Amino acid sequence: MTIHAIAFDAYGTLFDVYSISQLADKYFPGRGNELAQMWRTKQIEYTQLRTMCSMYKPFWEVTQDALIFVCKKLALNLSLDAQNALMGQYARLESFPENLVTLKALRSAGYKLSILSNGTTPMLQSAVDAAGMQGLFSHLMSVEAVRKYKTAPEAYQLGPDVFGVPAKNILFVSSNGWDVCCATWFGYTTFWVNRAGAPLEELGVTPHGVGSTLTDVIGFVDQYHS
Ligand code: LAC
Repeated sequence: MTIHAIAFDAYGTLFDVYSISQLADKYFPGRGNELAQMWRTKQIEYTQLRTMCSMYKPFWEVTQDALIFVCKKLALNLSLDAQNALMGQYARLESFPENLVTLKALRSAGYKLSILSNGTTPMLQSAVDAAGMQGLFSHLMSVEAVRKYKTAPEAYQLGPDVFGVPAKNILFVSSNGWDVCCATWFGYTTFWVNRAGAPLEELGVTPHGVGSTLTDVIGFVDQYHS
């Protein structure tokens, strides 16, 4: 079996969605961490609800809706200034420290690299540019092409469609336990970057590889080199 390409999840895997807590803390002292955690959870919940009900709306807007809801829920007064600053930060989230060097190593080893994400193409392009990752990815695959969010099969189908190979010949890498499990169900070869040391989801499916940082992908994918 050969791995023809690697598809990375974006948010949480390449870009740190919780790095926003520092900025959130400036606007809401002592509440930044809680806000960042709840914002992320609500954002994913909205993508799932919208997909289940066929009510697609771009990820940028869904992310903003989630921010507004969570601030209301936490009784935080979200000024337009704070909203714009937090959303602006979302467009240029910090990358995890090992990511750039890992992506460069995988690229040098001859792998085609791509992103397969709920994010819109402009969001992904902006995050890639901010992280200095220009030129590393052959494709930025956004679910906006199918107007359904992960974990819909149509969203995961983008990988095989774009690369012209079966999902099992694409390594899908995500730090989100739910994402990596559902991509395994879909048929990808999968690697879970379990940064948070979370338990495996009780879904009766196991990713093919697990590590704690993106660096661990290098050792895993090596075994498929022929
Ligand atoms: C993404 C979210 C799920 O990038 O992290 O697709």
